[in-house]
Amino acid sequence: MELNDLSPCPWPESVMAGDFDENSDVGISYLGAFSTGAGKKLLGYAVLGREKGEGLLMALMVRPELRRRGIGAQLLAAVGDCASYLGFVRLRLRVRRSNAPALALYRGMSFVQRSVSRRYYADGEDAIVMSARLPLENRP
Ligand SMILES: CC(C)(COP(=O)(O)OP(=O)(O)OC[C@H]1O[C@@H](n2cnc3c(N)ncnc32)[C@H](O)[C@@H]1OP(=O)(O)O)[C@@H](O)C(=O)NCCC(=O)NCCS
Repeated sequence: MELNDLSPCPWPESVMAGDFDENSDVGISYLGAFSTGAGKKLLGYAVLGREKGEGLLMALMVRPELRRRGIGAQLLAAVGDCASYLGFVRLRLRVRRSNAPALALYRGMSFVQRSVSRRYYADGEDAIVMSARLPLENRP
């Protein structure tokens, strides 16, 4: 929840709480990146769902003070592995047009633009729809 609150598009708490309900059957996977040693602090997380027969990267978030150390790329690679394991051949995602760090990360791991969803976000910004064939290329 703490990391979700720092996201460019935070999810309602009730949605995340529902996903973690042990009786939930929403077919969504949460992947966490943790520090080693005592404490096991959560460094970042990603969420994998499905859309149109493809895996869907629903969220990717790294603690602001720990960015640019390869954690996002490792999480994305893990999402790709998880999606392959679940039988998906492609992984898709949406990203804000202005999100240069995320766009650079996705392009670097072989995602290409498929379409644009005009005014997709509540503030009117467009979403770029990207997808990549699995397994992802250039993974760390
Ligand atoms: C996008 C995000 C997950 C990247 O995580 P990260 O751990 O900083 O990314 P990495 O260190 O693994 O970066 C991997 C590559 O992505 C690109 N990249 C990442 N951040 C970048 C930045 N600020 N500027 C330019 N390129 C960047 C680089 O190519 C980088 O490789 P390099 O460091 O060897 O040059 C992180 O910035 C974040 O949590 N942002 C807020 C949430 C968000 O926007 N999520 C995406 C929603 S679609």
